[in-house]
Amino acid sequence: MKDKVIIVTGGIRGIGKAISLAFAGQGCIVYAFGRNIPQSKNEFHENNDLTDKINFMQVDVSNLESVTSAIGEIAKKEGKIDVLVNNAGVTKDNLLIRMTESDWDTVIDINLKGSFNCIKAVSRTMMSQRSGRIINIGSIVGTIGNPGQVNYSASKSGMVGLTKSVAKELASRNINVNLISPGYVDTEMTGKLTDEQKEFFVNNIPLKRVASTDEIADVVLFFAGDGAKYITGQVLHVDGGLAM
Ligand SMILES: NC(=O)c1ccc[n+]([C@@H]2O[C@H](COP(=O)([O-])OP(=O)(O)OC[C@H]3O[C@@H](n4cnc5c(N)ncnc54)[C@H](O)[C@@H]3O)[C@@H](O)[C@H]2O)c1
Repeated sequence: MKDKVIIVTGGIRGIGKAISLAFAGQGCIVYAFGRNIPQSKNEFHENNDLTDKINFMQVDVSNLESVTSAIGEIAKKEGKIDVLVNNAGVTKDNLLIRMTESDWDTVIDINLKGSFNCIKAVSRTMMSQRSGRIINIGSIVGTIGNPGQVNYSASKSGMVGLTKSVAKELASRNINVNLISPGYVDTEMTGKLTDEQKEFFVNNIPLKRVASTDEIADVVLFFAGDGAKYITGQVLHVDGGLAM
């Protein structure tokens, strides 16, 4: 993986941070997109050898112009883009009858349209270099649904269709596109859940524990690596068996 150029959206905290650090640990050149970027590398992580390989960029994935300009800059500077990880995502939970139009739009715009924007922006470079890996981060609720998350689960189900269609469109150019669907991962996003909700989730996980962010990053590394070169258009649940 050494010197591969990697883009990780939402790569500054939570699962995305673990993914950025995992690629940096492999000697890759990492570009981490986020809405707010760290003021210093130390603020992000104390290991300077790792953080030196990570470039932070303030990019709003829901804005095609912002994405196109950032990705254009990277392609110009590095001359290639090897891997895109569409990880940026938000929740704005509420029951359907109370959900506002704006909460629906925000979640679809960031999670689903944001992934489309980034894929569109990297595809020209990946097509001309005739190689690339696109790894989308979905959620098991995109497969099994979840009350209070009609916007979020719809955005993640949308990523299934996006993944499979793009995989079919780009396969002839040696670009593999896959979707990782985590279950419950210990991050700030799930920190919003009540203790009761957390207990309910964990009781239903066959492995009886939540995932660490590193356990998701490990699977991303697999999809980016040589061992996954014959895998495309797949959805992999990384959920301790929750959505069997
Ligand atoms: N935490 C979980 O249990 C869990 C489970 C399944 C799937 N996921 C998915 O994993 C991904 C990461 O989740 P997390 O738990 O680390 O969340 P998080 O809230 O900790 O981090 C999300 C990241 O996305 C970035 N982001 C949000 N909106 C953005 C925008 N418009 N442009 C650029 N960046 C933006 C944020 O800045 C942040 O860095 C999300 O797609 C989420 O849906 C998480």
